[in-house]
Amino acid sequence: MALRPHLLCLALPLTLLAVSPAFADEGEWVPPVRHAETLKECGECHMAFQPALLPAGSWRAIMGNLSDHFGEDASLPAATAASIEHYLVAGAGRGDPALLRITEQRWWRHEHDFSPSRFTRPEVRSKINCAACHKGADQGFYEDD
Ligand code: HEC
Ligand code: HEC
Repeated sequence: MALRPHLLCLALPLTLLAVSPAFADEGEWVPPVRHAETLKECGECHMAFQPALLPAGSWRAIMGNLSDHFGEDASLPAATAASIEHYLVAGAGRGDPALLRITEQRWWRHEHDFSPSRFTRPEVRSKINCAACHKGADQGFYEDD
């Protein structure tokens, strides 16, 4: 009987984690990008997104079409692209591989189900500017701000 309060403490965080499937294992932390080429080449125009934020199929589709990357030309030499794709796929998370955007994944929309005007504020500008709201985003921390 003395064990009971202790067990309750363990059960609570597990329930909270269940909310975002992509993070079921890590809670609100995902391993940060530790691959030099990915940091450099994919951190030029926006933060280098962590591999766990998208499923493998989405990463493959993105890496297979860098010349038309959401309207930008993000082409890379084939060897560099292959190395980055390998890194992203190896650390990929869960989600719908038919969706290329993190911000279109169901778990993401669920976590960010608030007024769209919060994303257009001058200090945020875009949904993909994760670090505007999550100060530790580049280190993989997405706890509440
Ligand atoms: C030349 C600039 C540029 C480079 C380099 C670049 N991107 Fe992007 N990326 C963009 C733009 C522009 C968008 C769309 C931004 C928007 O919708 O606000 C985008 C969006 C994305 C998204 C979708 C974000 C979302 O959830 O809406 C992912 C994922 C992504 N990029 C991955 C990568 C990867 C991986 C690399 C490296 C191989 C890379 N990007 C390199 C410009 C770039
Ligand atoms: C306008 C501010 C804003 C932007 C931009 C934003 N987020 Fe969030 N995010 C939030 C808030 C607020 C919450 C907490 C929601 C809640 O408490 O229900 C959250 C929750 C999360 C969570 C769940 C954390 C947890 O506690 O389990 C993750 C993961 C996350 N965001 C990732 C991202 C990623 C990745 C991006 C960029 C592609 C991003 N966010 C962009 C405001 C933002």
